[in-house]
Amino acid sequence: MPILQDVLEEITDAMRRAEDRGRVADYIPQLAGVDPARFGIAVVTGDGAMHCAGDAEETFSIQSISKVFTLTMALGRIGDGLWRRVGREPSGNAFNSIVQLEREDGIPRNPFINAGAIVVTDVVLSGHEPREAIGAILHFLRFLAEDDSIIIDKAVARSETLTGYRNVALANYMKSFGNLNHEPERTLGVYFHQCAIAMSCRQLALAGRFLATGGRNPGTGFRVVSPERAKRINAVMLTCGHYDGSGDFAYHVGIPAKSGVGGGILGVVPGKASIAVWSPGLNAVGNSQLGALAMERLTRAMGWSVFGP
Ligand code: DON
Repeated sequence: MPILQDVLEEITDAMRRAEDRGRVADYIPQLAGVDPARFGIAVVTGDGAMHCAGDAEETFSIQSISKVFTLTMALGRIGDGLWRRVGREPSGNAFNSIVQLEREDGIPRNPFINAGAIVVTDVVLSGHEPREAIGAILHFLRFLAEDDSIIIDKAVARSETLTGYRNVALANYMKSFGNLNHEPERTLGVYFHQCAIAMSCRQLALAGRFLATGGRNPGTGFRVVSPERAKRINAVMLTCGHYDGSGDFAYHVGIPAKSGVGGGILGVVPGKASIAVWSPGLNAVGNSQLGALAMERLTRAMGWSVFGP
Protein backbone atom coordinates (compact mmCIF):
# COMPACT_ATOMS: atom_id res chain seq x y z
CA MET A 1 0.00 0.00 0.00
CA PRO A 2 1.52 3.39 -0.98
CA ILE A 3 2.12 5.96 1.76
CA LEU A 4 -0.84 8.34 1.81
CA GLN A 5 1.18 11.49 2.51
CA ASP A 6 3.49 10.74 -0.45
CA VAL A 7 0.48 10.20 -2.71
CA LEU A 8 -1.01 13.55 -1.65
CA GLU A 9 2.28 15.39 -2.25
CA GLU A 10 2.62 13.82 -5.72
CA ILE A 11 -0.95 14.72 -6.63
CA THR A 12 -0.48 18.28 -5.38
CA ASP A 13 2.71 18.68 -7.46
CA ALA A 14 0.94 17.41 -10.58
CA MET A 15 -2.12 19.61 -10.00
CA ARG A 16 0.05 22.68 -9.39
CA ARG A 17 1.64 22.12 -12.80
CA ALA A 18 -1.60 21.41 -14.70
CA GLU A 19 -2.32 23.92 -17.44
CA ASP A 20 -5.99 23.31 -18.14
CA ARG A 21 -7.51 24.29 -14.80
CA GLY A 22 -11.13 24.91 -15.86
CA ARG A 23 -12.96 28.21 -15.30
CA VAL A 24 -13.47 29.88 -11.94
CA ALA A 25 -17.16 30.65 -11.22
CA ASP A 26 -17.86 34.25 -12.12
CA TYR A 27 -21.50 34.85 -11.14
CA ILE A 28 -20.39 36.85 -8.09
CA PRO A 29 -17.20 38.93 -7.73
CA GLN A 30 -16.09 37.16 -4.53
CA LEU A 31 -15.75 33.87 -6.42
CA ALA A 32 -14.52 35.40 -9.69
CA GLY A 33 -11.55 36.88 -7.82
CA VAL A 34 -10.22 33.57 -6.44
CA ASP A 35 -6.77 32.57 -7.75
CA PRO A 36 -7.18 29.54 -10.07
CA ALA A 37 -3.68 28.34 -9.14
CA ARG A 38 -4.79 27.38 -5.64
CA PHE A 39 -4.90 23.67 -4.83
CA GLY A 40 -5.44 21.94 -1.51
CA ILE A 41 -6.26 18.43 -0.33
CA ALA A 42 -6.92 16.89 3.08
CA VAL A 43 -7.69 13.31 4.07
CA VAL A 44 -8.77 12.10 7.48
CA THR A 45 -8.70 8.35 7.87
CA GLY A 46 -11.00 6.26 10.07
CA ASP A 47 -8.43 6.18 12.89
CA GLY A 48 -8.45 10.01 12.98
CA ALA A 49 -5.08 10.57 11.28
CA MET A 50 -5.05 13.78 9.22
CA HIS A 51 -2.98 14.17 6.05
CA CYS A 52 -2.84 17.48 4.18
CA ALA A 53 -1.03 18.89 1.16
CA GLY A 54 -1.00 22.17 -0.77
CA ASP A 55 -3.37 24.93 0.35
CA ALA A 56 -5.29 22.65 2.70
CA GLU A 57 -5.55 25.29 5.43
CA GLU A 58 -6.88 28.05 3.21
CA THR A 59 -10.61 28.68 3.40
CA PHE A 60 -12.91 28.78 0.37
CA SER A 61 -16.65 29.08 -0.22
CA ILE A 62 -18.16 25.62 0.35
CA GLN A 63 -21.29 26.50 -1.67
CA SER A 64 -23.27 23.36 -2.58
CA ILE A 65 -21.19 21.11 -0.32
CA SER A 66 -23.30 22.65 2.47
CA LYS A 67 -26.23 20.67 1.03
CA VAL A 68 -24.82 17.44 2.50
CA PHE A 69 -25.00 18.90 6.00
CA THR A 70 -28.46 20.44 5.65
CA LEU A 71 -29.67 17.11 4.24
CA THR A 72 -28.30 15.40 7.36
CA MET A 73 -30.08 17.96 9.56
CA ALA A 74 -33.40 17.72 7.67
CA LEU A 75 -33.39 13.91 7.87
CA GLY A 76 -32.76 14.31 11.60
CA ARG A 77 -35.81 16.56 11.84
CA ILE A 78 -38.41 14.67 9.80
CA GLY A 79 -36.75 11.40 8.80
CA ASP A 80 -38.01 9.65 5.70
CA GLY A 81 -40.92 12.12 5.49
CA LEU A 82 -38.42 14.30 3.62
CA TRP A 83 -38.70 11.98 0.61
CA ARG A 84 -42.31 13.02 0.10
CA ARG A 85 -41.06 16.51 -0.77
CA VAL A 86 -37.87 15.71 -2.66
CA GLY A 87 -36.80 12.73 -4.76
CA ARG A 88 -33.53 10.82 -4.76
CA GLU A 89 -32.89 10.23 -8.44
CA PRO A 90 -30.12 11.78 -10.53
CA SER A 91 -31.50 14.78 -12.38
CA GLY A 92 -29.53 14.59 -15.62
CA ASN A 93 -29.97 18.35 -15.68
CA ALA A 94 -27.98 21.40 -14.62
CA PHE A 95 -27.92 22.13 -10.88
CA ASN A 96 -30.16 25.17 -11.30
CA SER A 97 -32.54 23.79 -13.92
CA ILE A 98 -36.18 24.80 -13.73
CA VAL A 99 -37.83 22.77 -16.55
CA GLN A 100 -37.94 19.45 -14.70
CA LEU A 101 -39.86 21.02 -11.81
CA GLU A 102 -42.90 21.75 -13.95
CA ARG A 103 -43.07 18.24 -15.34
CA GLU A 104 -42.69 16.75 -11.87
CA ASP A 105 -45.23 18.93 -10.02
CA GLY A 106 -42.78 20.96 -7.96
CA ILE A 107 -41.02 17.94 -6.43
CA PRO A 108 -37.30 18.34 -7.09
CA ARG A 109 -35.44 15.28 -8.34
CA ASN A 110 -32.92 15.15 -5.48
CA PRO A 111 -31.69 17.14 -2.46
CA PHE A 112 -28.50 18.34 -4.17
CA ILE A 113 -29.84 20.26 -7.16
CA ASN A 114 -30.70 23.79 -6.07
CA ALA A 115 -34.47 23.24 -5.98
CA GLY A 116 -34.07 20.15 -3.79
CA ALA A 117 -31.61 21.88 -1.49
CA ILE A 118 -34.04 24.78 -1.06
CA VAL A 119 -36.75 22.32 0.08
CA VAL A 120 -34.25 20.73 2.49
CA THR A 121 -33.41 24.16 3.89
CA ASP A 122 -37.14 24.87 4.24
CA VAL A 123 -37.30 21.80 6.55
CA VAL A 124 -34.28 22.97 8.56
CA LEU A 125 -35.98 26.37 8.96
CA SER A 126 -39.15 24.88 10.52
CA GLY A 127 -39.82 26.28 13.97
CA HIS A 128 -37.00 28.81 13.71
CA GLU A 129 -36.32 32.34 12.62
CA PRO A 130 -33.97 32.38 9.59
CA ARG A 131 -31.06 33.66 11.66
CA GLU A 132 -31.54 30.81 14.15
CA ALA A 133 -31.53 28.25 11.34
CA ILE A 134 -28.36 29.80 9.89
CA GLY A 135 -26.83 29.59 13.37
CA ALA A 136 -27.87 25.94 13.70
CA ILE A 137 -26.20 25.02 10.39
CA LEU A 138 -23.00 26.84 11.34
CA HIS A 139 -23.07 25.26 14.79
CA PHE A 140 -23.46 21.78 13.26
CA LEU A 141 -20.42 22.30 11.02
CA ARG A 142 -18.33 23.67 13.90
CA PHE A 143 -19.34 20.69 16.01
CA LEU A 144 -18.49 18.16 13.28
CA ALA A 145 -15.15 19.75 12.45
CA GLU A 146 -14.43 20.44 16.14
CA ASP A 147 -13.52 23.96 15.10
CA ASP A 148 -15.30 27.10 16.31
CA SER A 149 -13.40 29.33 13.88
CA ILE A 150 -15.65 28.34 10.93
CA ILE A 151 -17.60 31.39 9.75
CA ILE A 152 -19.97 32.62 7.07
CA ASP A 153 -18.43 34.97 4.51
CA LYS A 154 -20.84 37.89 4.76
CA ALA A 155 -19.79 39.42 1.43
CA VAL A 156 -20.49 36.13 -0.37
CA ALA A 157 -23.89 35.82 1.36
CA ARG A 158 -24.79 39.37 0.31
CA SER A 159 -23.77 38.78 -3.31
CA GLU A 160 -25.67 35.47 -3.44
CA THR A 161 -28.76 37.31 -2.20
CA LEU A 162 -28.37 40.14 -4.70
CA THR A 163 -27.85 37.91 -7.73
CA GLY A 164 -29.85 34.76 -6.88
CA TYR A 165 -32.65 35.40 -9.37
CA ARG A 166 -32.74 31.80 -10.56
CA ASN A 167 -33.01 30.51 -7.00
CA VAL A 168 -35.79 33.05 -6.32
CA ALA A 169 -37.61 31.66 -9.35
CA LEU A 170 -37.14 28.04 -8.20
CA ALA A 171 -38.37 28.83 -4.68
CA ASN A 172 -41.42 30.75 -5.87
CA TYR A 173 -42.24 28.03 -8.36
CA MET A 174 -42.14 25.35 -5.67
CA LYS A 175 -44.20 27.57 -3.37
CA SER A 176 -46.88 27.66 -6.08
CA PHE A 177 -47.00 23.84 -5.90
CA GLY A 178 -47.26 23.96 -2.10
CA ASN A 179 -43.77 22.45 -1.65
CA LEU A 180 -42.36 25.29 0.46
CA ASN A 181 -43.70 25.93 3.97
CA HIS A 182 -42.14 29.35 4.49
CA GLU A 183 -42.14 32.54 2.46
CA PRO A 184 -39.56 32.02 -0.32
CA GLU A 185 -37.35 34.90 0.83
CA ARG A 186 -37.08 33.45 4.34
CA THR A 187 -35.99 30.01 3.11
CA LEU A 188 -33.66 31.58 0.55
CA GLY A 189 -32.11 33.80 3.20
CA VAL A 190 -30.96 30.65 4.98
CA TYR A 191 -29.94 28.92 1.73
CA PHE A 192 -27.77 31.83 0.59
CA HIS A 193 -25.99 31.91 3.94
CA GLN A 194 -25.30 28.16 4.04
CA CYS A 195 -23.71 28.45 0.57
CA ALA A 196 -21.49 31.28 1.88
CA ILE A 197 -19.87 29.24 4.67
CA ALA A 198 -16.09 29.36 4.30
CA MET A 199 -14.03 26.30 5.22
CA SER A 200 -10.62 24.82 4.53
CA CYS A 201 -9.99 21.32 3.17
CA ARG A 202 -8.86 20.26 6.63
CA GLN A 203 -12.08 21.50 8.25
CA LEU A 204 -14.26 19.98 5.54
CA ALA A 205 -12.59 16.57 5.69
CA LEU A 206 -13.21 16.53 9.46
CA ALA A 207 -16.82 17.64 9.01
CA GLY A 208 -17.49 14.79 6.56
CA ARG A 209 -15.81 12.14 8.67
CA PHE A 210 -19.02 10.80 10.24
CA LEU A 211 -20.15 9.64 6.79
CA ALA A 212 -17.03 7.47 6.46
CA THR A 213 -17.34 5.96 9.93
CA GLY A 214 -20.89 4.65 10.00
CA GLY A 215 -22.34 7.85 11.45
CA ARG A 216 -20.20 8.02 14.58
CA ASN A 217 -17.48 10.59 15.14
CA PRO A 218 -14.59 8.38 16.27
CA GLY A 219 -12.82 11.37 17.85
CA THR A 220 -15.56 12.20 20.33
CA GLY A 221 -17.42 8.89 20.19
CA PHE A 222 -20.57 10.90 19.45
CA ARG A 223 -23.15 9.32 17.15
CA VAL A 224 -24.13 11.92 14.52
CA VAL A 225 -26.48 9.66 12.53
CA SER A 226 -27.25 5.93 12.45
CA PRO A 227 -25.10 3.68 10.23
CA GLU A 228 -28.18 3.20 8.05
CA ARG A 229 -28.58 6.93 7.53
CA ALA A 230 -24.89 7.47 6.81
CA LYS A 231 -25.10 4.74 4.18
CA ARG A 232 -28.10 6.39 2.55
CA ILE A 233 -26.63 9.89 2.52
CA ASN A 234 -23.57 8.36 0.85
CA ALA A 235 -25.82 6.70 -1.73
CA VAL A 236 -27.43 10.02 -2.64
CA MET A 237 -23.99 11.66 -2.84
CA LEU A 238 -22.76 8.94 -5.19
CA THR A 239 -25.74 9.16 -7.53
CA CYS A 240 -26.52 12.90 -7.38
CA GLY A 241 -23.55 14.74 -5.83
CA HIS A 242 -22.12 16.01 -9.11
CA TYR A 243 -25.38 16.92 -10.87
CA ASP A 244 -25.32 15.80 -14.50
CA GLY A 245 -21.65 14.95 -14.05
CA SER A 246 -22.47 12.31 -11.41
CA GLY A 247 -22.16 9.33 -13.75
CA ASP A 248 -18.81 10.52 -15.01
CA PHE A 249 -17.54 11.12 -11.47
CA ALA A 250 -18.64 7.63 -10.38
CA TYR A 251 -16.97 6.16 -13.46
CA HIS A 252 -13.64 7.91 -12.90
CA VAL A 253 -13.47 8.33 -9.12
CA GLY A 254 -15.97 5.84 -7.71
CA ILE A 255 -16.84 7.30 -4.31
CA PRO A 256 -19.78 9.27 -2.83
CA ALA A 257 -18.92 12.95 -3.18
CA LYS A 258 -20.43 16.43 -3.31
CA SER A 259 -19.11 19.38 -5.28
CA GLY A 260 -19.56 23.13 -4.92
CA VAL A 261 -19.03 26.00 -7.36
CA GLY A 262 -16.31 27.36 -5.05
CA GLY A 263 -14.21 24.48 -6.43
CA GLY A 264 -14.41 22.21 -3.40
CA ILE A 265 -15.34 18.53 -3.36
CA LEU A 266 -16.08 16.46 -0.26
CA GLY A 267 -15.58 12.73 -0.86
CA VAL A 268 -16.35 9.77 1.38
CA VAL A 269 -14.61 6.40 1.29
CA PRO A 270 -16.98 4.34 3.45
CA GLY A 271 -15.14 2.66 6.30
CA LYS A 272 -11.86 4.29 5.35
CA ALA A 273 -11.58 8.04 4.88
CA SER A 274 -13.09 11.46 4.38
CA ILE A 275 -11.45 13.58 1.67
CA ALA A 276 -11.71 17.28 0.85
CA VAL A 277 -10.10 18.79 -2.21
CA TRP A 278 -10.13 22.34 -3.53
CA SER A 279 -9.23 23.72 -6.94
CA PRO A 280 -11.32 26.74 -7.99
CA GLY A 281 -11.53 26.10 -11.76
CA LEU A 282 -14.72 24.33 -12.84
CA ASN A 283 -15.54 22.03 -15.74
CA ALA A 284 -18.47 22.50 -18.13
CA VAL A 285 -21.03 21.12 -15.65
CA GLY A 286 -19.84 23.29 -12.75
CA ASN A 287 -17.70 20.79 -10.82
CA SER A 288 -14.05 21.32 -9.87
CA GLN A 289 -12.00 20.14 -12.82
CA LEU A 290 -8.70 19.39 -11.09
CA GLY A 291 -10.50 18.44 -7.88
CA ALA A 292 -12.11 15.51 -9.68
CA LEU A 293 -8.81 14.58 -11.33
CA ALA A 294 -7.03 14.67 -7.97
CA MET A 295 -9.69 12.46 -6.40
CA GLU A 296 -9.40 10.04 -9.31
CA ARG A 297 -5.65 9.75 -8.79
CA LEU A 298 -6.07 9.35 -5.05
CA THR A 299 -8.74 6.65 -5.18
CA ARG A 300 -6.77 4.78 -7.82
CA ALA A 301 -3.50 4.94 -5.88
CA MET A 302 -5.14 3.84 -2.62
CA GLY A 303 -7.60 1.34 -4.14
CA TRP A 304 -10.45 3.36 -2.64
CA SER A 305 -13.10 3.26 -5.37
CA VAL A 306 -16.17 1.56 -3.92
CA PHE A 307 -16.40 -0.40 -7.16
CA GLY A 308 -13.05 -2.14 -6.83
CA PRO A 309 -9.32 -1.51 -7.19
O1 DON B 1 -27.27 28.49 -5.43
C1 DON B 1 -26.33 28.61 -6.19
O2 DON B 1 -26.48 28.63 -7.39
C2 DON B 1 -24.93 28.70 -5.62
N1 DON B 1 -24.93 29.47 -4.44
C3 DON B 1 -24.39 27.34 -5.27
C4 DON B 1 -24.45 26.38 -6.33
C5 DON B 1 -23.42 25.34 -6.33
O3 DON B 1 -22.46 25.28 -5.59
C6 DON B 1 -23.63 24.40 -7.40
N2 DON B 1 -22.57 23.50 -7.53
N3 DON B 1 -21.76 23.14 -8.15
